[in-house]
Amino acid sequence: MQSVLAVAAVGGLVAALAERASNKNSINLPPAVPGLPIIGNLHQLKEKKPQQAFTRWAEDYGPIYSIKTGASTAVVLNSTEVAKEAMVEKFSSISTRKLAKAVSILSRDKKMVAGSDSGEFHRNGKRHIMKSLLGSSALKQYRASRDTMIDDMVSTFHKMVSDDPKTPLNFREVFTSGLFGLSVAQALGEDVSSIYVEEFGRVLSRDEIYEAVVHDFMWCVLEVDWRDFFPYLSWVPNESFETKVLTTEARRTAVMRALINRQKERIARGEARLSYLDYLLAENAELTEEQLIMLIWEVVLEAADTTLVATEWAMYEVAKNPEKQDRLYQEIREVCGNETVTEEHLPRLPYLNAVFQETLRRHAPVPILPPRFVHENTSLAGYDVPAGTEVIINVYACHMNEKDWDEPDEWEPARFLDGGRFRSAETNKTIPFGGGRRICAGMMQATNIACTSIARFVQEFAWRLKEGDEDKVDTVHVTAYKLDPLCAYLTPRARGTE
Ligand code: HEM
Ligand SMILES: *[C@@H]1O[C@H](CO)[C@@H](O)[C@H](O)[C@H]1NC(C)=O
Ligand SMILES: *[C@@H]1O[C@H](CO)[C@@H](O)[C@H](O)[C@H]1NC(C)=O
Ligand SMILES: *[C@@H]1O[C@H](CO)[C@@H](O)[C@H](O)[C@H]1NC(C)=O
Ligand SMILES: *[C@@H]1O[C@H](CO)[C@@H](O)[C@H](O)[C@H]1NC(C)=O
Ligand SMILES: *[C@@H]1O[C@H](CO)[C@@H](O)[C@H](O)[C@H]1NC(C)=O
Repeated sequence: MQSVLAVAAVGGLVAALAERASNKNSINLPPAVPGLPIIGNLHQLKEKKPQQAFTRWAEDYGPIYSIKTGASTAVVLNSTEVAKEAMVEKFSSISTRKLAKAVSILSRDKKMVAGSDSGEFHRNGKRHIMKSLLGSSALKQYRASRDTMIDDMVSTFHKMVSDDPKTPLNFREVFTSGLFGLSVAQALGEDVSSIYVEEFGRVLSRDEIYEAVVHDFMWCVLEVDWRDFFPYLSWVPNESFETKVLTTEARRTAVMRALINRQKERIARGEARLSYLDYLLAENAELTEEQLIMLIWEVVLEAADTTLVATEWAMYEVAKNPEKQDRLYQEIREVCGNETVTEEHLPRLPYLNAVFQETLRRHAPVPILPPRFVHENTSLAGYDVPAGTEVIINVYACHMNEKDWDEPDEWEPARFLDGGRFRSAETNKTIPFGGGRRICAGMMQATNIACTSIARFVQEFAWRLKEGDEDKVDTVHVTAYKLDPLCAYLTPRARGTE
């Protein structure tokens, strides 16, 4: 009896060894996280930050590992080098998107440039955006609108401080409103203060428009992405959530249609303006109403969200770190004297650029890139990755990797400087805008707006955090909003007299 067992055991071992040998010859898959440690990670999951659970697993499974997401498999990437291999060298095998169910409802099944598969739709869409809005010559045309936006925000801060110097002011309210105005004006030709929406039979205020077009969408994506990454949570049936997604989609579409129709009337009257809508209608007479709604909505959303997230984090860190704020202020004084900072000064302000880059590293506004999909067998970091695998790039972990960064938790702009000069080579270790052919279209606009705003705000005011806010570094949403809006005391500085 015993010998039978022994023979069976040896037979099993031989079979296992043989299988391993043949696997080695044929296929070498990335390490798999065995079953998901559900209980152990409930805490993170409640906070809805998949990037942190992903980062923890990387400590055990390395820079590339796979997880099961329901019936399919995803590989999670935890290092900038492997991420670049996926985005650049292996692009031809990993050029489609995989969208969560609700995102595909909200994007009307990939009818937005950022959510589309690479192909003709993406190529044309990105070309239109670059040519009319975000490429370097288009950026010049919108220069006056950016300057006006920043001037208006500075005036608002001055007014708030002089009306009520004792109360910390809410940065986000002012910046969100200014940036939304710019986004709408670039997309449609003018800012909006209210709109009559036929489907609702009433006039919506500007705040309600922002909610319908930007805010509710971000809320839905947060709920969905989180559930999609951890599909064993979908056992919690949630009808109220499905209803919310469908309602959000319908409201967004109704509001966008009303905004576009008002501008079409303007264009029909012969009043041309600089805008994406004017450009698209002149260029592409055959766009359907649905296509137009999706294209215009997409740029409003993208321009209104991430730039705020980055600038708010930068101002939070500046207000929290008085010596670094002082270094930035001294640099501005040396370079600009008593002149107002403008975009022309940016190349001569290395510490300012370091402040911005370090903020993108430490507080990446998009901590997990929109998932990509392997459509033909390929390899990553020496492992075979079969067609049908989802690719999740954990930007947060890439930026916090101890191999690339000393004390990655610290916000330290000087790491981007070398003898007072900006070390642009360091930025190749970060991927806040993604990379390869799908790199963010708005990178230059976001950099111009964020850097000029930060510099103007520091030139005009000394910033100090509201008491007790030093440790409020928590995030929410897929774009990593500060959980607690920045509240700060501002003291106007005297210019040219110090
Ligand atoms: C600090 C601000 C911003 C950050 C951190 C950011 C980040 C990103 C990221 C991570 C992606 C995905 C890239 C990928 O999958 O590889 C993306 C795509 C995109 N972003 Fe941004 N973005 C910012 C500002 C903007 C602005 C101001 C616009 C203007 C409308 C914009 C428009 C787009 C577009 C159109 C895409 C799709 C590009 C494509 O699929 O080819 N972004 N962005
Ligand atoms: C269902 O969704 C609603 C709205 O998103 C949420 O408030 C509620 O907590 C969810 N219920 C469950 C059981 O997940
Ligand atoms: C700025 O400084 C220059 C000299 O440094 C001076 O001529 C000019 O009047 C100043 N302008 C203002 C607005 O103070
Ligand atoms: C892709 O790889 C799988 C094994 O993972 C294999 O069965 C399949 O034949 C491969 N397909 C192609 C087209 O090479
Ligand atoms: C993954 O990222 C985390 C956080 O940055 C880092 O501590 C860890 O060393 C990384 N692991 C690998 C294998 O790169
Ligand atoms: C950054 O650039 C250096 C030299 O140009 C290169 O050796 C390194 O691999 C790059 N790092 C990444 C993460 O791309």
